[in-house]
Amino acid sequence: MRALVLAGGAGTRLRPITYTSAKQLVPVGGKPILFYGLEQIAAAGIVDVGIVVGDTHVEIERAVGDGSAFGLQVTYLQQEAPLGLAHAVLIAEGFLDGDDFVMFLGDNLIEGGIEDLVASFEADRPAAQLLLKRVPDPQRFGVAVLDEDGGVAQLIEKPADPPSDLALVGVYLFTPAILDAARAIEPSWRGELEITDAIQRLLDGGARVRASEVTGWWLDTGKKDELLDANRIVLATIRRRVEGELDAGSAVVGEVVVEPGATLVRSTVRGPAVIGAGTRLEDAYVGPSTSIGRDCHLARCELEHSVVMDGCTVADVPRLEGCLLGRGVVVERTVRRPAAHRLLLGDHSHVELAEG
Ligand code: G1P
Repeated sequence: MRALVLAGGAGTRLRPITYTSAKQLVPVGGKPILFYGLEQIAAAGIVDVGIVVGDTHVEIERAVGDGSAFGLQVTYLQQEAPLGLAHAVLIAEGFLDGDDFVMFLGDNLIEGGIEDLVASFEADRPAAQLLLKRVPDPQRFGVAVLDEDGGVAQLIEKPADPPSDLALVGVYLFTPAILDAARAIEPSWRGELEITDAIQRLLDGGARVRASEVTGWWLDTGKKDELLDANRIVLATIRRRVEGELDAGSAVVGEVVVEPGATLVRSTVRGPAVIGAGTRLEDAYVGPSTSIGRDCHLARCELEHSVVMDGCTVADVPRLEGCLLGRGVVVERTVRRPAAHRLLLGDHSHVELAEG
Protein backbone atom coordinates (compact mmCIF):
# COMPACT_ATOMS: atom_id res chain seq x y z
CA MET A 1 0.00 0.00 0.00
CA ARG A 2 1.33 3.40 -1.02
CA ALA A 3 0.00 6.93 -0.63
CA LEU A 4 -0.44 9.63 -3.23
CA VAL A 5 -0.76 13.09 -1.73
CA LEU A 6 -1.95 15.92 -3.95
CA ALA A 7 -0.21 19.18 -3.21
CA GLY A 8 -0.47 20.99 -6.52
CA GLY A 9 -3.39 23.06 -7.76
CA ALA A 10 -3.66 26.81 -8.07
CA GLY A 11 -5.62 27.56 -4.87
CA THR A 12 -7.62 30.31 -6.59
CA ARG A 13 -10.21 30.36 -3.79
CA LEU A 14 -7.56 31.37 -1.25
CA ARG A 15 -6.07 34.30 -3.16
CA PRO A 16 -4.08 36.39 -2.48
CA ILE A 17 -2.47 34.01 0.06
CA THR A 18 -1.91 31.45 -2.69
CA TYR A 19 -0.11 33.87 -5.02
CA THR A 20 2.91 33.36 -2.82
CA SER A 21 2.15 30.25 -0.72
CA ALA A 22 0.93 26.74 -1.41
CA LYS A 23 -2.61 26.32 -0.08
CA GLN A 24 -1.56 23.06 1.59
CA LEU A 25 1.02 24.92 3.71
CA VAL A 26 -1.32 27.50 5.21
CA PRO A 27 -1.22 26.76 8.96
CA VAL A 28 -4.20 25.62 10.98
CA GLY A 29 -3.70 25.10 14.69
CA GLY A 30 -0.11 26.31 14.23
CA LYS A 31 0.83 23.61 11.69
CA PRO A 32 0.56 23.34 7.88
CA ILE A 33 -2.64 21.58 6.77
CA LEU A 34 -0.58 19.11 4.73
CA PHE A 35 1.26 17.83 7.81
CA TYR A 36 -1.93 16.43 9.37
CA GLY A 37 -2.51 14.21 6.33
CA LEU A 38 1.12 13.06 6.25
CA GLU A 39 0.95 12.17 9.96
CA GLN A 40 -2.26 10.18 9.41
CA ILE A 41 -0.69 8.30 6.48
CA ALA A 42 2.33 7.41 8.63
CA ALA A 43 0.02 6.35 11.49
CA ALA A 44 -1.71 3.93 9.09
CA GLY A 45 1.64 2.18 8.55
CA ILE A 46 2.26 3.50 5.02
CA VAL A 47 5.84 4.52 4.23
CA ASP A 48 6.07 5.17 0.47
CA VAL A 49 4.43 8.47 -0.34
CA GLY A 50 4.32 10.26 -3.68
CA ILE A 51 3.55 13.96 -3.41
CA VAL A 52 2.18 15.50 -6.60
CA VAL A 53 3.40 19.08 -6.80
CA GLY A 54 2.82 22.00 -9.15
CA ASP A 55 4.09 25.57 -9.30
CA THR A 56 4.67 25.66 -5.54
CA HIS A 57 6.95 22.62 -5.54
CA VAL A 58 9.95 24.44 -4.05
CA GLU A 59 7.97 25.49 -0.98
CA ILE A 60 6.39 22.04 -0.50
CA GLU A 61 9.76 20.32 -0.85
CA ARG A 62 11.34 22.72 1.64
CA ALA A 63 8.59 22.02 4.19
CA VAL A 64 8.38 18.23 3.84
CA GLY A 65 11.91 17.33 2.72
CA ASP A 66 12.54 13.62 2.25
CA GLY A 67 9.66 12.82 4.62
CA SER A 68 11.89 11.32 7.30
CA ALA A 69 10.55 13.78 9.91
CA PHE A 70 7.20 12.00 9.47
CA GLY A 71 8.69 8.50 9.18
CA LEU A 72 7.92 8.52 5.45
CA GLN A 73 9.88 8.11 2.22
CA VAL A 74 8.70 10.85 -0.07
CA THR A 75 8.98 10.95 -3.86
CA TYR A 76 8.02 14.21 -5.59
CA LEU A 77 5.99 13.97 -8.79
CA GLN A 78 5.76 17.12 -10.87
CA GLN A 79 2.41 17.92 -12.50
CA GLU A 80 3.08 20.51 -15.21
CA ALA A 81 -0.37 22.11 -14.88
CA PRO A 82 -3.42 21.58 -12.61
CA LEU A 83 -5.12 19.22 -15.05
CA GLY A 84 -7.16 17.31 -12.48
CA LEU A 85 -7.00 14.61 -9.83
CA ALA A 86 -7.26 11.75 -12.33
CA HIS A 87 -4.40 13.35 -14.30
CA ALA A 88 -2.35 13.34 -11.09
CA VAL A 89 -3.00 9.60 -10.75
CA LEU A 90 -1.82 9.04 -14.32
CA ILE A 91 1.46 10.90 -13.86
CA ALA A 92 2.04 8.84 -10.69
CA GLU A 93 1.79 5.50 -12.52
CA GLY A 94 5.55 4.81 -12.34
CA PHE A 95 5.68 5.62 -8.64
CA LEU A 96 2.58 3.53 -7.84
CA ASP A 97 4.27 0.53 -9.46
CA GLY A 98 1.13 -1.62 -9.53
CA ASP A 99 0.38 -1.22 -5.80
CA ASP A 100 -2.92 -0.31 -4.14
CA PHE A 101 -2.89 3.24 -2.82
CA VAL A 102 -4.66 5.85 -0.74
CA MET A 103 -5.08 9.20 -2.46
CA PHE A 104 -5.18 12.11 -0.02
CA LEU A 105 -5.91 15.69 -1.09
CA GLY A 106 -3.37 17.89 0.67
CA ASP A 107 -5.93 20.56 1.61
CA ASN A 108 -8.37 18.13 3.27
CA LEU A 109 -8.42 17.30 6.99
CA ILE A 110 -10.35 14.42 8.50
CA GLU A 111 -10.84 13.56 12.12
CA GLY A 112 -9.50 10.34 13.52
CA GLY A 113 -7.08 9.32 10.78
CA ILE A 114 -7.23 6.63 8.10
CA GLU A 115 -6.07 3.48 9.91
CA ASP A 116 -9.50 1.80 10.01
CA LEU A 117 -10.20 2.82 6.43
CA VAL A 118 -6.96 1.29 5.15
CA ALA A 119 -7.57 -1.91 7.17
CA SER A 120 -11.12 -2.36 5.81
CA PHE A 121 -9.95 -1.71 2.24
CA GLU A 122 -7.15 -4.27 2.54
CA ALA A 123 -9.57 -6.87 3.95
CA ASP A 124 -12.01 -6.49 1.04
CA ARG A 125 -10.08 -4.87 -1.86
CA PRO A 126 -12.89 -3.17 -3.82
CA ALA A 127 -11.69 -1.28 -6.92
CA ALA A 128 -12.36 1.95 -5.05
CA GLN A 129 -13.37 2.88 -1.53
CA LEU A 130 -14.78 6.34 -0.92
CA LEU A 131 -15.58 8.51 2.05
CA LEU A 132 -18.75 10.59 2.02
CA LYS A 133 -20.04 13.41 4.16
CA ARG A 134 -23.43 15.14 4.17
CA VAL A 135 -22.95 18.83 3.33
CA PRO A 136 -25.29 21.82 2.97
CA ASP A 137 -23.70 22.88 -0.36
CA PRO A 138 -23.17 19.71 -2.42
CA GLN A 139 -22.88 21.61 -5.72
CA ARG A 140 -19.35 22.57 -4.66
CA PHE A 141 -18.16 18.93 -4.50
CA GLY A 142 -18.27 15.55 -6.15
CA VAL A 143 -21.61 14.02 -5.13
CA ALA A 144 -22.62 10.37 -4.65
CA VAL A 145 -26.02 8.80 -5.19
CA LEU A 146 -26.50 5.57 -3.25
CA ASP A 147 -28.88 2.71 -4.07
CA GLU A 148 -31.29 1.15 -1.53
CA ASP A 149 -28.55 -1.16 -0.20
CA GLY A 150 -26.13 1.69 0.43
CA GLY A 151 -24.07 0.81 -2.66
CA VAL A 152 -22.75 3.58 -4.92
CA ALA A 153 -25.12 4.05 -7.86
CA GLN A 154 -23.74 7.23 -9.43
CA LEU A 155 -21.11 9.93 -8.97
CA ILE A 156 -21.31 13.46 -10.36
CA GLU A 157 -18.70 16.20 -10.10
CA LYS A 158 -20.08 19.57 -8.95
CA PRO A 159 -23.68 19.06 -10.11
CA ALA A 160 -25.68 22.27 -10.68
CA ASP A 161 -28.74 20.47 -9.33
CA PRO A 162 -27.38 17.97 -6.76
CA PRO A 163 -29.29 14.68 -6.58
CA SER A 164 -28.00 14.08 -3.03
CA ASP A 165 -26.19 15.89 -0.23
CA LEU A 166 -23.41 13.28 0.07
CA ALA A 167 -20.13 14.93 -0.90
CA LEU A 168 -16.99 13.02 -1.83
CA VAL A 169 -14.33 13.58 0.80
CA GLY A 170 -10.79 14.05 -0.54
CA VAL A 171 -9.49 10.70 0.72
CA TYR A 172 -9.86 7.69 -1.60
CA LEU A 173 -8.51 4.14 -1.73
CA PHE A 174 -7.82 2.48 -5.05
CA THR A 175 -6.49 -0.65 -6.66
CA PRO A 176 -4.50 -0.08 -9.88
CA ALA A 177 -7.81 -0.48 -11.81
CA ILE A 178 -8.25 3.28 -11.42
CA LEU A 179 -5.40 3.88 -13.90
CA ASP A 180 -7.24 2.40 -16.89
CA ALA A 181 -10.39 4.24 -15.84
CA ALA A 182 -8.47 7.53 -15.67
CA ARG A 183 -7.06 6.91 -19.15
CA ALA A 184 -10.55 6.35 -20.54
CA ILE A 185 -12.19 9.63 -19.49
CA GLU A 186 -12.34 13.05 -21.16
CA PRO A 187 -11.65 16.42 -19.48
CA SER A 188 -14.64 18.03 -17.73
CA TRP A 189 -16.12 21.49 -18.39
CA ARG A 190 -13.36 22.93 -16.19
CA GLY A 191 -10.71 21.29 -18.36
CA GLU A 192 -9.68 18.73 -15.74
CA LEU A 193 -9.58 14.95 -15.70
CA GLU A 194 -11.91 14.41 -12.74
CA ILE A 195 -11.30 11.53 -10.33
CA THR A 196 -15.09 11.45 -9.87
CA ASP A 197 -15.51 10.63 -13.58
CA ALA A 198 -12.81 7.95 -13.38
CA ILE A 199 -14.61 6.27 -10.46
CA GLN A 200 -17.90 6.50 -12.38
CA ARG A 201 -16.09 4.72 -15.20
CA LEU A 202 -15.19 1.91 -12.77
CA LEU A 203 -18.86 1.65 -11.81
CA ASP A 204 -19.94 1.57 -15.47
CA GLY A 205 -17.50 -1.31 -16.05
CA GLY A 206 -19.09 -3.30 -13.22
CA ALA A 207 -16.23 -2.82 -10.72
CA ARG A 208 -16.94 -2.79 -7.00
CA VAL A 209 -16.97 0.71 -5.46
CA ARG A 210 -17.61 0.96 -1.73
CA ALA A 211 -18.45 4.06 0.24
CA SER A 212 -18.91 4.93 3.88
CA GLU A 213 -19.87 8.13 5.63
CA VAL A 214 -17.22 9.79 7.76
CA THR A 215 -18.36 10.02 11.33
CA GLY A 216 -16.10 12.81 12.54
CA TRP A 217 -15.41 16.18 11.02
CA TRP A 218 -14.12 16.70 7.50
CA LEU A 219 -12.59 20.01 6.55
CA ASP A 220 -11.89 21.17 3.04
CA THR A 221 -9.81 24.28 3.59
CA GLY A 222 -10.32 25.79 0.16
CA LYS A 223 -11.70 29.17 1.29
CA LYS A 224 -11.01 31.67 4.07
CA ASP A 225 -14.01 30.95 6.26
CA GLU A 226 -13.51 27.19 5.90
CA LEU A 227 -9.88 27.63 6.80
CA LEU A 228 -10.73 29.63 9.91
CA ASP A 229 -13.28 26.98 10.82
CA ALA A 230 -10.65 24.26 10.38
CA ASN A 231 -8.32 26.27 12.61
CA ARG A 232 -11.05 26.53 15.25
CA ILE A 233 -11.79 22.80 15.19
CA VAL A 234 -8.13 21.75 15.28
CA LEU A 235 -7.38 24.19 18.10
CA ALA A 236 -10.18 22.63 20.13
CA THR A 237 -7.92 19.54 20.40
CA ILE A 238 -4.72 21.21 21.66
CA ARG A 239 -3.33 20.94 25.19
CA ARG A 240 -1.88 23.76 27.23
CA ARG A 241 1.89 24.22 26.89
CA VAL A 242 3.39 27.56 27.90
CA GLU A 243 7.11 27.76 27.11
CA GLY A 244 7.44 31.45 26.26
CA GLU A 245 7.81 34.27 28.79
CA LEU A 246 4.98 36.12 30.53
CA ASP A 247 5.40 39.27 32.60
CA ALA A 248 3.39 39.83 35.80
CA GLY A 249 0.71 41.74 33.91
CA SER A 250 -0.02 38.92 31.46
CA ALA A 251 -2.43 36.03 31.67
CA VAL A 252 -2.85 32.85 29.66
CA VAL A 253 -6.26 31.26 30.13
CA GLY A 254 -7.25 27.74 29.08
CA GLU A 255 -5.75 25.57 26.34
CA VAL A 256 -3.01 27.80 24.99
CA VAL A 257 0.34 26.98 23.39
CA VAL A 258 2.97 29.68 23.81
CA GLU A 259 6.03 28.52 21.91
CA PRO A 260 9.58 29.07 23.21
CA GLY A 261 10.93 32.56 22.61
CA ALA A 262 7.47 34.15 22.53
CA THR A 263 6.99 37.09 24.93
CA LEU A 264 3.81 38.44 26.51
CA VAL A 265 3.86 41.92 28.04
CA ARG A 266 0.65 43.13 29.75
CA SER A 267 -1.27 40.81 27.44
CA THR A 268 -4.01 38.21 27.73
CA VAL A 269 -4.41 35.09 25.64
CA ARG A 270 -7.66 33.19 26.04
CA GLY A 271 -7.53 29.75 24.45
CA PRO A 272 -7.72 27.72 22.51
CA ALA A 273 -4.93 29.62 20.79
CA VAL A 274 -1.35 29.21 19.60
CA ILE A 275 1.33 31.90 19.86
CA GLY A 276 4.32 31.07 17.63
CA ALA A 277 7.99 31.14 18.56
CA GLY A 278 9.61 34.56 18.72
CA THR A 279 6.30 36.43 18.66
CA ARG A 280 5.86 39.46 20.95
CA LEU A 281 2.53 40.61 22.41
CA GLU A 282 2.32 44.02 24.09
CA ASP A 283 -0.91 45.28 25.63
CA ALA A 284 -2.64 42.80 23.37
CA TYR A 285 -5.56 40.44 23.68
CA VAL A 286 -5.66 37.22 21.67
CA GLY A 287 -8.98 35.45 21.94
CA PRO A 288 -10.27 31.92 21.24
CA SER A 289 -9.69 30.10 17.94
CA THR A 290 -6.64 32.11 16.96
CA SER A 291 -3.28 30.94 15.64
CA ILE A 292 -0.44 33.45 15.57
CA GLY A 293 2.67 32.45 13.59
CA ARG A 294 6.34 32.98 14.38
CA ASP A 295 8.09 36.32 14.82
CA CYS A 296 4.96 38.46 14.82
CA HIS A 297 4.50 41.70 16.75
CA LEU A 298 1.06 42.45 18.19
CA ALA A 299 0.74 45.70 20.12
CA ARG A 300 -2.31 47.45 21.58
CA CYS A 301 -4.71 45.30 19.62
CA GLU A 302 -7.38 42.63 20.01
CA LEU A 303 -7.61 39.64 17.75
CA GLU A 304 -9.94 36.65 17.74
CA HIS A 305 -10.96 33.72 15.50
CA SER A 306 -8.07 34.38 13.11
CA VAL A 307 -4.99 32.90 11.50
CA VAL A 308 -1.93 35.14 11.36
CA MET A 309 1.04 33.77 9.45
CA ASP A 310 4.72 34.44 10.23
CA GLY A 311 6.30 37.85 10.55
CA CYS A 312 3.14 39.99 10.79
CA THR A 313 2.73 43.28 12.65
CA VAL A 314 -0.63 44.38 14.08
CA ALA A 315 -0.58 47.63 16.06
CA ASP A 316 -3.17 49.96 17.59
CA VAL A 317 -6.14 48.20 16.03
CA PRO A 318 -8.91 47.79 18.61
CA ARG A 319 -10.66 44.74 17.27
CA LEU A 320 -9.95 42.24 14.51
CA GLU A 321 -11.76 38.97 14.01
CA GLY A 322 -12.27 36.48 11.20
CA CYS A 323 -8.91 37.48 9.67
CA LEU A 324 -6.45 35.49 7.61
CA LEU A 325 -3.17 37.39 7.32
CA GLY A 326 -0.39 36.12 5.04
CA ARG A 327 3.30 36.37 5.86
CA GLY A 328 4.78 39.74 6.75
CA VAL A 329 1.47 41.61 6.69
CA VAL A 330 1.30 44.97 8.51
CA VAL A 331 -2.01 46.29 9.89
CA GLU A 332 -1.55 49.50 11.88
CA ARG A 333 -3.29 52.68 12.90
CA THR A 334 -1.72 56.01 12.02
CA VAL A 335 -2.16 59.61 13.17
CA ARG A 336 -1.13 60.92 9.75
CA ARG A 337 -3.45 63.48 8.15
CA PRO A 338 -5.71 63.36 6.30
CA ALA A 339 -7.37 60.81 8.58
CA ALA A 340 -8.13 58.12 6.01
CA HIS A 341 -7.58 54.41 5.41
CA ARG A 342 -4.44 53.79 3.32
CA LEU A 343 -4.28 50.34 1.78
CA LEU A 344 -1.60 48.47 -0.10
CA LEU A 345 -3.31 45.24 -1.15
CA GLY A 346 -2.26 42.43 -3.46
CA ASP A 347 -4.54 41.19 -6.24
CA HIS A 348 -7.78 39.62 -4.96
CA SER A 349 -7.28 40.89 -1.41
CA HIS A 350 -10.42 41.44 0.61
CA VAL A 351 -10.90 44.11 3.28
CA GLU A 352 -14.00 44.64 5.40
CA LEU A 353 -14.03 47.90 7.36
CA ALA A 354 -16.37 48.11 10.32
CA GLU A 355 -18.89 50.93 10.57
CA GLY A 356 -17.92 54.08 12.44
C1 G1P B 1 -12.09 17.85 -5.42
C2 G1P B 1 -12.92 16.74 -6.10
C3 G1P B 1 -14.31 16.69 -5.48
C4 G1P B 1 -14.21 16.49 -3.97
C5 G1P B 1 -13.32 17.58 -3.36
C6 G1P B 1 -13.04 17.31 -1.90
O1 G1P B 1 -12.65 19.09 -5.75
O2 G1P B 1 -12.98 17.00 -7.49
O3 G1P B 1 -15.05 15.62 -6.05
O4 G1P B 1 -15.51 16.51 -3.40
O5 G1P B 1 -12.05 17.67 -4.02
O6 G1P B 1 -12.27 18.34 -1.32
P1 G1P B 1 -11.74 20.40 -6.07
O7 G1P B 1 -11.05 20.76 -4.79
O8 G1P B 1 -10.78 19.97 -7.14
O9 G1P B 1 -12.70 21.46 -6.54
